[in-house]
Amino acid sequence: ARVAVLISGRGSNMAALLYAAKSGNCPYEIALVAANDPDAAGLILAKAEGVPVFAQSHKGMKRGEFDVILDREIRNAGADYVALAGYMRLLSPEFVGKWKDRILNIHPSLLPRYKGLDTHERAIKAGDTVSGCTVHLVTAELDDGPVLGQTEVAILPGDTSDTLAARILFAEHQLYSRVLSDYVSRELDPDWLVEKVGELAL
Ligand code: GRF
Repeated sequence: ARVAVLISGRGSNMAALLYAAKSGNCPYEIALVAANDPDAAGLILAKAEGVPVFAQSHKGMKRGEFDVILDREIRNAGADYVALAGYMRLLSPEFVGKWKDRILNIHPSLLPRYKGLDTHERAIKAGDTVSGCTVHLVTAELDDGPVLGQTEVAILPGDTSDTLAARILFAEHQLYSRVLSDYVSRELDPDWLVEKVGELAL
């Protein structure tokens, strides 16, 4: 399978997906890294690793308009899945519709708890003793959609949102490539194919 990774910043999850792909015996490869911010730090690494990159600011464009460009770039790269990795922009319903069941996202909380921003701060403030990260399918709603996998991470006494974020990030890097690998591999599963053909026949 060929995966396009969308980033807006640092790109450490993108790096984790990329190095898992390069480590061998991985059912996906990274076909493209695309960013909606030309200054996204992750682009430097992707380029250095020889991954095709696309970067364009969304500023001054309508969401749908920008997503049409994104869709074109992803298709040109021959990708069949899209992995959001710190992509800080809601995708248009049209884009999500075109890529139905083919967009994954990673979120730093145990969804459905703490959708949106400041997840670690909110978990600590609530007095939670456990937080974690979630990989889920993307729908038009923010941080919604079926959960594909989660890792629980203990909250330690004295944790700040920064220390907790750093620990959860370790878990994110492990979880994302594993769940993505499992998810793209379902196309090799005869039961899944039978189900899919059934759906198409309806
Ligand atoms: C990660 O915590 C991810 O879960 C969230 O944004 C952060 C992105 O970090 N959606 P990075 O760019 O992958 O390093």
